[in-house]
Amino acid sequence: MCGIVGYVGHRDVVPILLEGLTRLEYRGYDSAGVAVVDRGGSVGIRRAAGKLVNLKTELADDPLAGAYGIGHTRWATHGKPTTENAHPHQDAAGRIALVHNGIIENFLELRSGLEERGVEFVSETDTEVIVHLVSSYYEGDLAAAVRRTLDDLEGIYAIVVASADEPDKLVTARQGPPIVVGLGENENFIASDVPPVMGYTRDVVFLDDGQLAVVTPDEVTIQDGAGNAVEAVAQRVTWDPVTAEKGGFKHFMLKEIHEQPTAIRDSLIGRVNRHTGQIDLGELNLDEDLANSMSELLLLGCGTSWHAALVGKYWIEKLAGVPVKVDHASEFRYRDPLVADGAVACAITQSGETADTLAATREAKDRGAKLWTICNVVGSMATRISDGVLLTQAGPEIGVASTKAFTTQLTCLYLIALKLAELRGRLSREAIELRLHNLARLPGQIEGIVAQADKIDEVARRVQHFKQFLFIGRGLLYPIALEGALKLKEISYIHAHGYPAGEMKHGPIALIDDGVPIVALAPQSDLYEKTASNMQEAKARDGFILAVATEGDENLADFSDELLSIPDCLPEFAPLLASVPLQLLSYYVAVRLGCDVDQPRNLAKSVTVE
Ligand code: M6R
Repeated sequence: MCGIVGYVGHRDVVPILLEGLTRLEYRGYDSAGVAVVDRGGSVGIRRAAGKLVNLKTELADDPLAGAYGIGHTRWATHGKPTTENAHPHQDAAGRIALVHNGIIENFLELRSGLEERGVEFVSETDTEVIVHLVSSYYEGDLAAAVRRTLDDLEGIYAIVVASADEPDKLVTARQGPPIVVGLGENENFIASDVPPVMGYTRDVVFLDDGQLAVVTPDEVTIQDGAGNAVEAVAQRVTWDPVTAEKGGFKHFMLKEIHEQPTAIRDSLIGRVNRHTGQIDLGELNLDEDLANSMSELLLLGCGTSWHAALVGKYWIEKLAGVPVKVDHASEFRYRDPLVADGAVACAITQSGETADTLAATREAKDRGAKLWTICNVVGSMATRISDGVLLTQAGPEIGVASTKAFTTQLTCLYLIALKLAELRGRLSREAIELRLHNLARLPGQIEGIVAQADKIDEVARRVQHFKQFLFIGRGLLYPIALEGALKLKEISYIHAHGYPAGEMKHGPIALIDDGVPIVALAPQSDLYEKTASNMQEAKARDGFILAVATEGDENLADFSDELLSIPDCLPEFAPLLASVPLQLLSYYVAVRLGCDVDQPRNLAKSVTVE
């Protein structure tokens, strides 16, 4: 939610800020703005409602130049996405500028207090109170004024502040949303995420919650919440910057769908040896004692990550015999959950910064659970609060719709299921080797599905006019029905509902007529016949049937209007394969409807607010 950037150094600041914002636009795209301090010591601000391109036009018409500055791309929480509400916000004297990601919960109270003291507000945002507070506390030391302001704030924030009166200095602080400081030579960078700094440096410092950093061209000094100096511990980012570019694809989403074979391979490399059946999940800190003493596993996530958790439950209970509870993180945190002695809670989160997921895992920890995280972002908050981490190795996922993050989450959950099964003596070495052998075939099989893109685009052409869809599946494929429906609705704005196929006759079948297509997940499995019956029931009511079936299935072809195939596989692996044609279907429907695939309306990639 919202992207922030800052630069202080020897280069012209505006191109750096704009480039950084371009790489962060996935975090929010309601409005954008920059504030720059020029050599004469005055602050220039340009802001524009709508996408970043509007700000670029504004800057082309009315340029700014300077040596240090800050920028922001917004996902609106308080106040409409107008130019007035766009960041940066300024104090009344126009000497201090500030960008913010997060929500200030007590802003109304703070705002009335400031208004009583004569401060005039020009926006509807919660953010504006922060800059006025900084200004009210300013006595020649920006960091001290920011520190005092933070004491007044309730809520979550990542902020960057610049003052015209303290040249070549930025002050940044976080409580919740991430801040990354990129360390350069006589220049330093601040950003919400790593991609904006990758073109300049691979050495970064991830600020911790409660920390404040003073960033100048030559120095980064960090203080903890009490104002004590803290050592800046740098980490090296090993991603290839090209991975964060579109690389010839029309959209990031399409590129990321194509990257799934590599992402899954990368998630397996170094962890499994299919010849010896060895599984090494070192960073998870899972040993025989824990595997056998664990009373239950709580899988917590939101959206797509929650769907991955649902699949994980089937695998872990079946293969390892560990009871698994799955919760929406946003529900778990508020429902006084029971956490058994000996429970392990596992956050599943691509970004590692989803506010609800972080709060839920903290709740589980407070109730005595050990914490694991399956996460895609090294150094993110979820990884730092956990006792064990399994990184998904998907590389940066920029498209708002999750694709490769999902299938690598599934891969990691499957590895956990197998490792638990091994440590609990539930599967023989041969049974594990057989599964690892089949797991290693998945990337090649996904390449085969992706190669059917033209056929899937043709199906998209046939179904794009429908106004609603039902996705159905049973067992392991029920969560994939949910995920297929989520993908379609989030990027094409078509209403879609995922349902367990066996539940159709308990209500949703009433919806079916020739205007409601049913996407039925029916690859070979022990539930195949049952799903096929549900499809026939839908066909008997004139439903348009789009089946996802095992290659060569002639039976379903008889009563399906369209058929997409996935390769023959162990039924356990069907969720990984069946997800891919559904991702492509949603993608092509959305493209055909002219939707903004990578940046769907009202959404943002990382949901760092409740
Ligand atoms: O970063 P996270 O995995 O914690 O994000 C959770 C959800 O916001 C996310 O999975 C969302 O549902 C997907 N981007 C939808 O495609």
